[in-house]
Amino acid sequence: MKKKMMIQASCRKGLQVCFLLMMVGKLQGRITAPERLVAPVEKPFTLTCSVTRERGESLRQVRWLDVQNQTLLSYQPGNRDSVSGQQHVELATSPKDTSAITIRRVGFRDEGCYTCIFDMHPSGSKQGQTCLTVTAHISADSNKTAVSGKMASLSCSYALPEKVQQITWKHTSAEGASSEVASFAKRSDPMIEPPYQGRVWLSASLSDSQLTIQPVAVQDEGCYTCLYNTHSEGLKSSTVCLSTYVLPKPQVSYKTTAPGVIEANCTSLSRPPAEIVWNVERDNRTMGPPVTTHLPQGDGTTLVISTLTVRSGLLKDVSVKCLVHHKGLESPIAVSMNTKIGTALTILISVTTVAALLVMSLCFCLWKCFLRKEAD
Ligand SMILES: *[C@@H]1O[C@H](CO)[C@@H](O)[C@H](O)[C@H]1NC(C)=O
Ligand SMILES: *[C@@H]1O[C@H](CO)[C@@H](O)[C@H](O)[C@H]1NC(C)=O
Ligand SMILES: *[C@@H]1O[C@H](CO)[C@@H](O)[C@H](O)[C@H]1NC(C)=O
Ligand SMILES: *[C@@H]1O[C@H](CO)[C@@H](O)[C@H](O)[C@H]1NC(C)=O
Repeated sequence: MKKKMMIQASCRKGLQVCFLLMMVGKLQGRITAPERLVAPVEKPFTLTCSVTRERGESLRQVRWLDVQNQTLLSYQPGNRDSVSGQQHVELATSPKDTSAITIRRVGFRDEGCYTCIFDMHPSGSKQGQTCLTVTAHISADSNKTAVSGKMASLSCSYALPEKVQQITWKHTSAEGASSEVASFAKRSDPMIEPPYQGRVWLSASLSDSQLTIQPVAVQDEGCYTCLYNTHSEGLKSSTVCLSTYVLPKPQVSYKTTAPGVIEANCTSLSRPPAEIVWNVERDNRTMGPPVTTHLPQGDGTTLVISTLTVRSGLLKDVSVKCLVHHKGLESPIAVSMNTKIGTALTILISVTTVAALLVMSLCFCLWKCFLRKEAD
């Protein structure tokens, strides 16, 4: 009677919960157990069963059978010392007339139907069943960048390789064009699509799939989707995007455009476009602002030209550098106009020439002296 009131009370509290319980819970005899449950792999998971007791009835023992109908756990309620069972499960705390067991770490082999058996006195045993589906998510790398000509490696993983039939990698370019790159199926070798053969490799694994591209080309940029064909869960996928960089190799050229006026160009071909700044002797002041031109090339790279006009007198006094900043570089590349080194070189050459002349005249003197002595 008390029990009935409790149920009524809880039903009043949450009519939806009650309805849901009736929908999913299968009442086998007087046992309530969820019919189907989904358990994430590698996590603990708790199974529950509850019994509706008649007046005067007592619960003697609870037993749980695993997917092979082997005893998973058994115990006498209220007696912790009576618990016996397999290593990978433990008894969880639960309300009266309910039994809960926790699988410490769910694995693929835990998928299947579990039976809970309540041994009642004097009415005998009642049993219920719950079926478990083990699931996992696909985890992929975070977005990556690769330098053109070097190597790129993209990976996806899925913790239930037993359920995988095939893995397929697809490439989607920024323009939206999609193409298959490679695939690997159970009991076969990785397959690389003809346009990618010789520079794309795929690992022979159904759990950790790794796609390697070497050398990376500008057109390899885009998003890569790994698709896992699974038995019970259909198609699962994840996406990782790749950006390709072309590193700049800047150059500086200059010419005299008018008497005393020099025009200097700093050019850089890269992807994405580089940022060019001028540095005049560790000072960012420039003789008039530089003019920057962006010239996109057909291959996805951009030629950036920064033009700086300076008075030729300045070049004799200070060093003028062009600094190229690029996302793919740890520090900017500095290209000097060599003015300071030029001056130093001039001094060096002058000094060397003077020294050589001195040595030569000394030799000449000595030779003259000896020759005169011999002549005497
Ligand atoms: C376990 O027992 C149930 C009946 O109680 C039966 O339907 C099922 O096939 C058995 N499972 C195995 C793996 O023997
Ligand atoms: C990865 O790159 C794509 C496209 O460039 C973008 O839409 C997505 O938000 C990025 N994801 C992360 C996690 O940064
Ligand atoms: C600098 O680049 C411009 C084009 O942007 C070109 O017209 C000019 O001749 C170049 N000057 C030098 C010194 O290379
Ligand atoms: C130049 O230097 C000054 C101070 O040294 C700074 O405030 C300014 O932002 C710099 N300009 C650039 C373009 O780096």
